[in-house]
Amino acid sequence: MGTLGPVTALSTRYDVDRAWDIDVYEDHGGYQNVRAALDSTPDDMIQMIKDSGLRGRGGAGFPTGLKWSFIAQDTGKPVYLVVNADESEPGTFKDRPLMERDPHSLVEGIIVSCLAIQSEMAYIYARGEFGLVSRRLRHAIEQAYERGYLGADVFGSGKRVDITLHRGAAAYICGEETALLDSLEGRRGQPRLRPPFPATHGLYGCPTTVNNVETVTAAGYIVGQGPEWFNQYGTEKSAGPKLMCISGEVKRPGNYEFALGTPVSEMIAAAGGMLDDRELKFFFPGGSSTPILTAEHADIPYTFEAMTEADSLLGTGALMVHSDKTSVVETVYRYVKFYEHESCGKCTPCREGGYWTAQVYERILDGRGRAEDLDLLADISNNIFGRSFCALGDALTSPVLSSLEHFRDEYEYLLRSAGRLPDHMQSVRTATANEYLERNDLATAGV
Ligand SMILES: Cc1cc2nc3c(=O)[nH]c(=O)nc-3n(C[C@H](O)[C@H](O)[C@H](O)COP(=O)(O)O)c2cc1C
Ligand code: SF4
Repeated sequence: MGTLGPVTALSTRYDVDRAWDIDVYEDHGGYQNVRAALDSTPDDMIQMIKDSGLRGRGGAGFPTGLKWSFIAQDTGKPVYLVVNADESEPGTFKDRPLMERDPHSLVEGIIVSCLAIQSEMAYIYARGEFGLVSRRLRHAIEQAYERGYLGADVFGSGKRVDITLHRGAAAYICGEETALLDSLEGRRGQPRLRPPFPATHGLYGCPTTVNNVETVTAAGYIVGQGPEWFNQYGTEKSAGPKLMCISGEVKRPGNYEFALGTPVSEMIAAAGGMLDDRELKFFFPGGSSTPILTAEHADIPYTFEAMTEADSLLGTGALMVHSDKTSVVETVYRYVKFYEHESCGKCTPCREGGYWTAQVYERILDGRGRAEDLDLLADISNNIFGRSFCALGDALTSPVLSSLEHFRDEYEYLLRSAGRLPDHMQSVRTATANEYLERNDLATAGV
């Protein structure tokens, strides 16, 4: 068991002025990890990643070292690293500050990862709306080329690593790794049938690994400073530091870094506690795709295994916190609308099921709900879950099924009251953004 609580590991240069400039980055220890990596073999580096216990930070939590060991080598085809910087999951904003404030740490992580998986070419697929991210990354990549850290002769080693930055066009589905690859190839972004998996047939049919920004950045530190650096933080099964974004009804929403294993209640306290000292009612532990948990779960440690045991997921590290003033049904409806809108339409359960789920929520909230609607919602979700082509379909069902499980009485209240919320709750349905901010005092909380 390592350190728990707030830590400064991947966010170490967040407060350094102009850390996005290569000189400042190098003055603060930058590009030392890649120098260490050049003394190691690819197999040794992959072993270090395995020993560290690093699991993917993009949502699925797959062990990174294992994923890298699946990459087909010696096929005669190039191997590609694709960095997933699409970050479009509602509530998730933990990769953006890393790329804006410390873009060279991602560039360095990419060089190290490429050396480990024997790739000469990396692509960063950045969310289309990320203007500052793109400018900072482009500048960092240019500076790294100028110094000979990228290109045909990385640090004079004779090894080649190139990076191309690609901006998406604002579709959540393009964060799904195979839809991302299709989009990068210039096609419509829709998930691919698997197998074959990207490790053998990825970008342009070549062996590819798709990894999250935080995963790749952490890999750079692990190879440079050893697996012990990483697992000095966290627990045995959930090692390392985790970039977190805490949002919702807390006094200081924003970016934080904690060791995995820190209790959720401690994270909420670090974010200033509940807004207006309200009562914690429910939270999404890792973005809108992760099943809702309740105040009863507030003391569980933030680990992959504890979240699974509580029937939820750690997801992306986006802790979204809600109080007793917020209607869980309205909140879930908003996410259902998001998933309905973002469904790529390729498969029937998600395309049709999302639409029907939204219709049922609308009639419950408009006072036209029927007694059988709650079973109907569960039935639609159970026909989407596990039957959709990609995980977006499953994600749509997470808030629906978990809220029905924990807050069925609130749905029943709405059926009885013809859609009127209990008096102590504030509706967010009809409020304009400004009214909502005002009502929730968020404007004065510096949001
Ligand atoms: C609808 C959908 C959206 C996703 N969006 C992202 C994203 O924005 N960033 C990300 O890293 N992973 C995202 N993922 C997960 C990726 O498919 C993939 O698991 C991840 O990039 C792998 O990287 P990791 O192993 O480093 O976590 C998304 C998955 C789905 C189903
Ligand atoms: S689950 Fe939804 S997003 Fe995924 S392939 Fe099917 S329609 Fe597209």
